[in-house]
Amino acid sequence: MARNVLISPSILSADQSRLADAIIEAKNGGADLIHVDVMDGHFVDNITIGPGVINDLAKVADEQGIGLDVHLMISNPIRHLDKFIASKPEYLTVHQEAETHLHMALDKIKKAGIKAGVAINPSTTLHVLEEIIPIMDILIIMAVNPGWGGQKYIELVEDKIALAREFVNAENPSCVIEVDGGVNPENAVKLCELGVDILVAGNSVFNGKGTVEENIKAIRG
Ligand code: DX5
Ligand code: ZN
Repeated sequence: MARNVLISPSILSADQSRLADAIIEAKNGGADLIHVDVMDGHFVDNITIGPGVINDLAKVADEQGIGLDVHLMISNPIRHLDKFIASKPEYLTVHQEAETHLHMALDKIKKAGIKAGVAINPSTTLHVLEEIIPIMDILIIMAVNPGWGGQKYIELVEDKIALAREFVNAENPSCVIEVDGGVNPENAVKLCELGVDILVAGNSVFNGKGTVEENIKAIRG
């Protein structure tokens, strides 16, 4: 039986000249969300797409009946939130390491009727989020150092994932836990056992062994 986990393919690993097609292919292949990685060349080295492109992709996602899961890897994201809120993603997530005023950022996103999240790097302790978990809708635990698709999964984050499941169950059971980076059909088994709700997968969906549909099925198990 397929595992009870949502799959959010990252279009960072798709052909960047055909992002609309990638969304349609992922949706038809069984994706539950579409993960969109925004990088600014400052918080992380890489530079990807911005609010203009996302706004157009949001129309495609809307036509397909699938939500966007926007992951901001940008410094001081609060300065740019309005532009990302405008495309009405399902989830909008900022990095703890990139925003001094995390509460203010989440508050702004939630007031716009969008589910708000915080992502943490592999080296960041979960304890920095203790006070804010009650108002979070999504927690993204990075299993790679952000910046690039196709990196190797960092196993040592698994203790943090287990702890996150306990924290979230105790403080805010409606907050979902997402793991992002290096997810593949093999480590997905363990991640689901640890109680992860959403798996992001870029390389293993768009550059995996089979079709996008086969690859999503393999991760779901
Ligand atoms: C990494 C990004 C990830 C990445 C995942 O900085 O946040 O979302 O695209 O891609 P894979 O699954 O290839 O590690
Ligand atoms: Zn991501």
